[in-house]
Amino acid sequence: MAVVWTSDLETGIEAIDQQHRKIVDCINQLEVAIEQKDSASVGRVLDSVEEYCRSHFPFEEDLQVRVGYKHAKSHKAVHDVFVKRVGKYRDRHIAGEDVARQFHDMLSTWLVLHIKREDKGFVPDVKRSIGGMVKGDAGEDWLSRSVAGFFGKGR
Ligand SMILES: [Fe+2]
Ligand SMILES: [Fe+2]
Repeated sequence: MAVVWTSDLETGIEAIDQQHRKIVDCINQLEVAIEQKDSASVGRVLDSVEEYCRSHFPFEEDLQVRVGYKHAKSHKAVHDVFVKRVGKYRDRHIAGEDVARQFHDMLSTWLVLHIKREDKGFVPDVKRSIGGMVKGDAGEDWLSRSVAGFFGKGR
């Protein structure tokens, strides 16, 4: 079933929300690949999710450290476990196993829960830090630069 972007997935930080929408797109591309029994597309979605992990997770982790979020370390640990899980699905896919449905279900469940339970947890610290900066300050510049670099020209 497709994941529909709803307001309860929004953190209120536009940069983060745009990134989260990317993974919702991946989930929905995977849904189409499953319907079409298109193994090559499943592989491409796995690649996209890994790319997402390499961009989005460090983005959040850096942000959390910069704003002094007290659970930054455990949040990173949750990301690291997820990266390993995705890697195992990729390995199984490469070995010829049909993991698409399992991967889809894991991904959609994980994303929704992670956003609602964990990502939303660091938002107040970010808002407090950014809200205290004058436009053009280092923090805001860093945020916009990081957003511009996210997934290159893809956004
Ligand atoms: Fe996130
Ligand atoms: Fe996160």
